Amino acid sequence: MAIEYPETPDRTRCSYTRSTDFLARIRKSEALIDARPALYFSGYERVGGYPVFVERAKGAKLRDVDGNSYIDYLLGFGSVVLGHANFEVNRAVTAALERGVNPSFLDMDHIALAERMVALIDAADCVTFLKTGSDAVAAAVRLARAVTGRPHVVHFGHHGWHDWCSNSPGVQQSVKQLLTPFRFNDIDHLDALFEVHRDEIACVVMMPYELEAPSTGYLAAVQDLAHKNGALLVFDEVRSGFRIDLGGAQAAFGVRPDLSAFGKAMANGHAISALAGRRDVMSKILELGLTVTYYRSPDAISAALTTLQLLERDDVPAKLARLGARLMQGLDEAAHHAGVPARSIGLPATPFIRFEHTREPDREKAMRLFCNAMLGLGHLLTPAHHWFVCAAMTEADIDATVLASREAFSLVKRML
Ligand SMILES: Cc1ncc(COP(=O)(O)O)c(C=O)c1O
Repeated sequence: MAIEYPETPDRTRCSYTRSTDFLARIRKSEALIDARPALYFSGYERVGGYPVFVERAKGAKLRDVDGNSYIDYLLGFGSVVLGHANFEVNRAVTAALERGVNPSFLDMDHIALAERMVALIDAADCVTFLKTGSDAVAAAVRLARAVTGRPHVVHFGHHGWHDWCSNSPGVQQSVKQLLTPFRFNDIDHLDALFEVHRDEIACVVMMPYELEAPSTGYLAAVQDLAHKNGALLVFDEVRSGFRIDLGGAQAAFGVRPDLSAFGKAMANGHAISALAGRRDVMSKILELGLTVTYYRSPDAISAALTTLQLLERDDVPAKLARLGARLMQGLDEAAHHAGVPARSIGLPATPFIRFEHTREPDREKAMRLFCNAMLGLGHLLTPAHHWFVCAAMTEADIDATVLASREAFSLVKRML
């Protein structure tokens, strides 16, 4: 089956000769169906192309196979929180590899990581490790259904690809019927869903925030509503965890979910996730058959342990907040200066920009032009979802991005 890839990017500053050759090879051999164009290119098709192949990633920067360099605001889809190829994480992983890649027994760092997470996350009495964010949230949902004996789930946000939360072809209708989305920051909507599905809802699963911050008291009200109705509250902290606060968004917003799923930032790009929560609930987890062949691999465990140590030692969440706020303020000023109706949105650690042209096609075009221009100027931003900042970024990196944005906003102004 042929895959449609984006055409050669419309950019004058960069050469993409080798990228183009590699894309041609993928097209020709069709061996790499797993390149997942829908997921990988969904944003970049819209910006007119994508430098797909990396030669080296170090700190806040990427270099593609054509030698073009980018400040990376995609950061392994938010998993690389310290910066690429962090020396101390790499050293810990190398030492762990010497102990065996997947030894049959547990590793000592396993205990240390669990203890560290329980110490950091107030609502976590205990923790279990898995490999992906999808794993961890799916485990939380199965656990909530097992504990409550109820089938239905209400949710807000993205939780990965597993059947319980997917609307894709191939997922049984009967499975889809067990999930209902609710509107964020609208407690009445959630209340109404509890009425409709009275005594049927096992859990409320939610990202604590996505683009908008929760309004004051909203998350606490969600918790009260869930508990009043006999449901569990599950925070999907796969994106938020260890980024805005070492205790998770739950610490930042003062809520104690019954269960929490973590992934991404916890291991600086290495594959590991965690489900944490109340002991009385978590104690049922051993009955759920959650076997994960690779869960005891010391490399990912040690990567996570070292990442948490560095996040704490360097107070990384505070640094991300500072860098993100600087970026957002700079983008707002640059947009204003260029006369473009745009403003930065999101929490500083996960900033984004919203174009506010009256017509939807203009907003879409503005975003495409902006990200395309930024890519050509060496700043990797996605139009598909919010961006990330990392600890390896400096104020000079942020200022360089803001400076480039002036040129990108002027282009948007000229074209719209
Ligand atoms: C909030 C959230 N939950 C779950 C997931 C799924 O994580 P993974 O891709 O590691 O399975 C993601 C991935 O983007 C996510 O952002």
